[in-house]
Amino acid sequence: MNSILLTGSVIVTLALISYSIGIIAEQRKKQLTNFVMIFLSLGIVLDITATAFMIFGSPNSPFTIHGFLGYSALLVMVIDVYLLWRFRIRNGIQVKVPKNLNLYSRYAYSWWVIAYITGALLVFLK
Ligand code: HEM
Repeated sequence: MNSILLTGSVIVTLALISYSIGIIAEQRKKQLTNFVMIFLSLGIVLDITATAFMIFGSPNSPFTIHGFLGYSALLVMVIDVYLLWRFRIRNGIQVKVPKNLNLYSRYAYSWWVIAYITGALLVFLK
């Protein structure tokens, strides 16, 4: 693994930590506090940065199974964070997140973690 890919792998792991902190806090309190929004938004920035590092560092075309898995995971999280921001701007911090949005967040995060694990396995076991 070259240094660009190594940097990408470290950054994607930071994205995992950031998303996890944000989602766990959101699922527990069901409130979109500044804490939750900062960690989830930071997760998106780290995720996009890591993806860019992987594309530039990889000797492959950007369209591999690992790539598509990663893009789909990034997309569901971008949608999640967009929906959470929209809800928060409309309703404020105090209003609890409705059940369906809370469930979408859980599924999106779970898919992201699955993509992270299988992504790592795909590149390291080949
Ligand atoms: C879920 C977020 C992820 C996204 C969006 C993502 C995205 C990508 C993309 C687009 C490529 C270029 C296409 C390719 O070579 O297959 C790539 C390559 C790569 N990624 Fe990821 N990836 C993710 C997770 C991971 C994880 C968790 C690891 C390991 C810790 C990792 C390590 C690598 C490596 C080593 C390559 C180069 C592959 C090779 O040399 O064959 N990626 N990634």
